[in-house]
Amino acid sequence: MLPAPSESELSRVGISLPKNLLEKFDEIISLRGYSSRSEGIRDAIRSYIAHYQWMADVKGERQGVITMVYDHDQRGLLQTLTDIQHDYMNVISASLHAHITHDRCMEVILLRGDGSDLKHIAERLMSQRGVESVKLTTIPIRD
Ligand code: NI
Repeated sequence: MLPAPSESELSRVGISLPKNLLEKFDEIISLRGYSSRSEGIRDAIRSYIAHYQWMADVKGERQGVITMVYDHDQRGLLQTLTDIQHDYMNVISASLHAHITHDRCMEVILLRGDGSDLKHIAERLMSQRGVESVKLTTIPIRD
């Protein structure tokens, strides 16, 4: 992706990150051959923005699937995830749970409904502490 002209002006930010998150990030940027951590973070932020913009295009009647990985030991998380899914029972057709390890779970959720609802569910799930990843894939419904 070509950097926008405005990207030539740099701002400095200080952020706090969990140690293991930073270690994982450093490992990946080193494997991918980034020259610096800053460059890796800039790229990660660009992908985050691109992903958000891609999500913004999800509208209209859609069939979709959410794949979510979470920490089953996170206090209260199971209850919260269940509550969120019940809030959207008209959109969620089914879910499948797989135990990955002792403390990690994977859930696959099948959905059908308005794109904005599908995104909203994905975003609510994603924002919970203890949720490692949420991936939403959708296709438009046509006859
Ligand atoms: Ni499980």
